[in-house]
Amino acid sequence: MEIIESIAQLRRVVRDARANRQTIGLVPTMGFLHKGHLSLMRRARLENDLVVATVFVNPTQFGPNEDFDAYPRDAQRDIELMRSEKVDIAFMPQSADLYPDGYATYVEVQSPMTQTLCGASRPTHFKGVTTIVAKLFHLTAPDRAYFGQKDAQQVAVIRQMARDLDFDLEVVACPTVREPDGLAMSSRNNYLSDRQRNDAVVISQALFEARDMISTGESSADKVVNHIRSRIAAVDGADIDYLAAVDADTLVDLTTLDGSILIAVAVRFGRTRLIDNIQIKTGGTKQTIRS
Ligand code: PAJ
Repeated sequence: MEIIESIAQLRRVVRDARANRQTIGLVPTMGFLHKGHLSLMRRARLENDLVVATVFVNPTQFGPNEDFDAYPRDAQRDIELMRSEKVDIAFMPQSADLYPDGYATYVEVQSPMTQTLCGASRPTHFKGVTTIVAKLFHLTAPDRAYFGQKDAQQVAVIRQMARDLDFDLEVVACPTVREPDGLAMSSRNNYLSDRQRNDAVVISQALFEARDMISTGESSADKVVNHIRSRIAAVDGADIDYLAAVDADTLVDLTTLDGSILIAVAVRFGRTRLIDNIQIKTGGTKQTIRS
């Protein structure tokens, strides 16, 4: 595995790979890698000749009072994990490489889809995400880029951006990797106290119950959402930031659960905000997509 910090070196490697007709798979991350991230690298390894993974805690996607400084970082451990997944290129740039003095260009999906769910409490978040992801798409010219369904809104926003800006690549969405008790893996799980960690299991439990309700015929969004709300509200110290049943592609609210459904939730435990979701397809043959 080659560790690259400089944009010029990354460009050289990408140019050589292209000249040799190699396919390129890109896995963008903010590091402090866990099994969720590694599942994306494993999938990219299976499907591409050259796998580029990036580790960069992107400052533009954090709001002024968010956890940019506190965000966990461990470059050495990340390098070892990427090596174990047979990543070819670990791109680990400095902030000044990607956002040098005078940097002034942002990529923004201007649609309600970036202002709902996570966008409601993090109004500039997706502008930062689409800006960095567009830059990484330009720098690595991937055939495929891998993202986790854990961040379903992020996938929908990136798909919209890639479509609108004519990026010639496939956005591949990978299933959410969970702890044995169901909690979605996240670098932020690290912030939880033991008690909060135990309590946080209610999020996935409530979502899985909702999935069961839908697969046995419940089609009222209100009923399903109310079930989740009451399960989570019963836990002391769990504070729901948002909870919604939306269309999985447009993120528009649903009243009747039909078609491609995303049920997404964000819950605060103290200062830690956790997100999770399930996606379900109904209609015709009732098919459930693993979240
Ligand atoms: P980060 O939170 O580090 O996540 C990197 C990728 O890993 C994202 O696509 C995310 O959805 C995926 N991921 C995280 N937890 C996962 C889990 N439990 N199961 C499956 N996939 C999971 O998302 C970001 O970084 C940033 O916004 C980024 C896209 C890198 C832009 O800065």
